[in-house]
Amino acid sequence: MAHPILELSNDELLSTTRAVRKRLDLDRPVERDVLLECVELAVQAPSGSNMQRWHWVFVTEPDKKAALAELYNRVFRVTYTPDALGQLDAAGERIRESAQHLADHLHEVPAMLVPCQWGRPGPDGANQAGYWGSILPAVWSFLLAARSRGLGSVWTTMHLAHEREAADILGIPYERCAQAGLFPIAYTIGSDFKPGPRKDLDAIVHWDRW
Ligand SMILES: Cc1cc2nc3c(=O)[nH]c(=O)nc-3n(C[C@H](O)[C@H](O)[C@H](O)COP(=O)(O)O)c2cc1C
Repeated sequence: MAHPILELSNDELLSTTRAVRKRLDLDRPVERDVLLECVELAVQAPSGSNMQRWHWVFVTEPDKKAALAELYNRVFRVTYTPDALGQLDAAGERIRESAQHLADHLHEVPAMLVPCQWGRPGPDGANQAGYWGSILPAVWSFLLAARSRGLGSVWTTMHLAHEREAADILGIPYERCAQAGLFPIAYTIGSDFKPGPRKDLDAIVHWDRW
């Protein structure tokens, strides 16, 4: 049976799919079938030559989640120090506090997703665009599908400093397959999210020349 869908317009979905950290419900299990529904939608995303080299690795075993959270925290501890962050404004302080909460509770999330792509990225810029462009649209589609089913997540990449160790934990063939991130997944506490702060279009949109 299809999972219930939140009543959100397309534009509401696109503008309210936030980085959720403090409102992840750590106590409510996430069913396998709702994750599969999201993957089914995600794989409609484009990939170069429609190669679809993606693999969707979900992690629900407590010891594996704890091991990945430890890798994440190893990096978090050294990048989120007061020295590294410097003076923060109120918005920056809110993100810091939220990020700290996620780091403290990452091992408790009901599920994690580590999206992977077969073949490792090459060193040159053009190839990077083609490589990551063949998986990240699908990952974002997954997150949109998840949001419309009451699930939340936050994009994270910190554990990738220890990608090989994560590969060993999950049995991913590191030499032939790259991880695109680590996505905690949980139902959200409430489903009302607002558009986030973004730059004015005047500062970032160019017509015909820079
Ligand atoms: C490539 C990438 C890496 C990120 N890494 C982390 C991370 O390691 N930890 C974390 O808490 N948030 C991480 N974020 C989340 C961003 O902080 C968040 O998307 C941004 O602040 C916008 O949040 P909003 O959409 O709720 O406004 C990452 C986001 C992206 C796109």
